[in-house]
Amino acid sequence: MQGRSLKSTKWMFVLVFVLTLSAVTSWAKDKTVLTPAAKAGEKVFQQNCALCHNATSTSAKVGPGMKGLFKAKELPTSHKPVTVDNVRDQIEKGNAAGKPLPMPPFASKLSKAQMNDLIEYLKTL
Ligand code: HEC
Repeated sequence: MQGRSLKSTKWMFVLVFVLTLSAVTSWAKDKTVLTPAAKAGEKVFQQNCALCHNATSTSAKVGPGMKGLFKAKELPTSHKPVTVDNVRDQIEKGNAAGKPLPMPPFASKLSKAQMNDLIEYLKTL
């Protein structure tokens, strides 16, 4: 009798351990942990860019979706190489000839720190 309950206690521990492990690994997989800079950049994006750009997909809203922006070889519309300078240039100057709507310039709207945070965030997409 005693031997049996000891055995089932042991299995209970194994079960709890396995369940905890799988919960933790699935949590870690879902969660992209953002650095403080990227987290601040996410806010800049929500306030200035999300109106026209998706962050979680490549499909266009007004402008092209930003998912995987820095993982691609070229920028989605201009087909320029994906470099921090080219992305920063687009954000600072916008594109008055953008279709279906022009992209506004952000040079005077974002501080240097906000711009850097925004780039850090875009790199995580
Ligand atoms: C009023 C809508 C609008 C807003 C707001 C806007 N964009 Fe755009 N964006 C566009 C359009 C339209 C295009 C496609 C035309 C072009 O290349 O300029 C575009 C293109 C881009 C591109 C691709 C450029 C290329 O060379 O292919 C990037 C990167 C980008 N936007 C980033 C941003 C970021 C970051 C913000 C926020 C600071 C932002 N945009 C805000 C409309 C917008």
